[in-house]
Amino acid sequence: MQQNNVLILDFGSQYTQLIARRVRELNIYCEIHPYNHPPKNQSEFKAIILSGSPNSVRGENVLHPDLSEIRGKKPVLAVCYGAQYLAHFSGGQVAPSNTREYGRANLSYIKSDETFFENISVGSQVWMSHSDTIKNLPTNGELLASTKDVENAAYKIKGEQTFAIQFHPEVYHSKDGKQILENFLVKIAGVSQTWTPDSFVESTVAAIQEKVGNDKVVLGLSGGVDSTVAAVLLNKAIGKNLYCIFVNNGLLRKNEFESVLTQYEGMGLNVKGVDASARFLKALEGISDPEKKRKAIGNSFIEVFDDEAHKITDVTWLAQGTIYPDVIESVSVNGGPSATIKSHHNVGGLPDYMKLKIVEPLRMIFKDEVRRVGASMGIDSELLGRHPFPGPGLGIRILGDITAEKVRILQEVDAVFINGLKEDGLYDKVWQAGAMLLPVNSVGVMGDERTYEKVVALRAVESTDGMTADWVNLPYEFLQKTSNKIINQVKGVNRVVYDISSKPPATIEWE
Ligand code: XMP
Repeated sequence: MQQNNVLILDFGSQYTQLIARRVRELNIYCEIHPYNHPPKNQSEFKAIILSGSPNSVRGENVLHPDLSEIRGKKPVLAVCYGAQYLAHFSGGQVAPSNTREYGRANLSYIKSDETFFENISVGSQVWMSHSDTIKNLPTNGELLASTKDVENAAYKIKGEQTFAIQFHPEVYHSKDGKQILENFLVKIAGVSQTWTPDSFVESTVAAIQEKVGNDKVVLGLSGGVDSTVAAVLLNKAIGKNLYCIFVNNGLLRKNEFESVLTQYEGMGLNVKGVDASARFLKALEGISDPEKKRKAIGNSFIEVFDDEAHKITDVTWLAQGTIYPDVIESVSVNGGPSATIKSHHNVGGLPDYMKLKIVEPLRMIFKDEVRRVGASMGIDSELLGRHPFPGPGLGIRILGDITAEKVRILQEVDAVFINGLKEDGLYDKVWQAGAMLLPVNSVGVMGDERTYEKVVALRAVESTDGMTADWVNLPYEFLQKTSNKIINQVKGVNRVVYDISSKPPATIEWE
């Protein structure tokens, strides 16, 4: 348990993880727990934040937290649903709102001399997203702020350190949202801002040493940010007792295996590169169904990795680059299981299969923090800034069955696209980019010859976590130049298209 931490009780809001990220940006450690499974030691937390929810405090789907250990005893900040909950069940009233209360609004009244609103002025923009409204404040409620349409936009409970806000401080459109969180957590709750990448590295290295001792640990490197940062942390903690395995599944980007392996060696990691391309291609022969491809790639990976791991004597731990969004228990607001659209586990099943103990040094941090931790340990910024790349690699970007020739074509196309983005300074403006090889041929002309060759689609998206994504408006000149280069340089392609679909409803990958 980290010192001075903050508990976020989740009621299923789409913004709950954003609350945690804003709090972490203040260098304060926090944890998200479902409202109905709070941690046993909740009274040890220094402050509690109640999240929003898609549910209403009226009607059948009310989510009832047990606040008996918290309310009036600890500083509490209730956001949106939380604010409505405290009002509705403590002598106030919540009712459907008459006016639209979604989007930007401005604070038209702020109670003066309130620490909660220190350094925030009337006019400050906030983000509203609710369909119920607080008509009457709860018993002992005192109004702290209003907007034009929402009179009870913020209140506190007299005699308690309990604060409630109808708007969302965690959303960037609430311009002073971070200041509000800081006022509450630092000035009111007295939480100290000591959660930094350096402090994380120091405490995690010590924790790994304590947990693992002199045992051997095996870790699969993927070339991605998470496994790399996990490896460097473990290397700091246990040095040569960390055995890294980097598998070439034959579906990596062009030259990726060689260049990343060299980088890993340069970082002092004890790493073994295993070229298993032929084995993966064989396992994929004739398979077109996307989920079957994922399975074939996943299973081959497990076999190859397990073979290699068994060559290391007495290994007892498996390290993984799991990060916090993968482990946050999701709240199922209506009782059913929460929906998953595609199965995205790179190496699903590996821990069970190998019967090793698990060490996951990044399991409590977010992606942006992984990058900051990586930077604080001196990992190259280009490596840390890499776009996400799916575990099955080009295997799910070649639509239909996979052959060595199709992999070659897509690697060439992808390299032209990605290098072009880098050369034109566009790479860092894009969250993820790649090319898809389509299972159709199209007619073209080259000189006097009629061609009948492959079509490729380019995709570039903006996103924060891959859950939603917008296609990127890349400059026409860039698209023109890239298309020309691909058609001229990559044998077997005569047509390039650009994907202008956002997620939802389209996914980022085509398979
Ligand atoms: P979708 O296509 O679902 O992708 O919009 C969202 C993010 O997940 C990545 N992705 C995968 N990652 N194994 C992975 O490790 C997979 O099978 C897989 N499928 C999609 C995708 O690249 C994007 O970043």
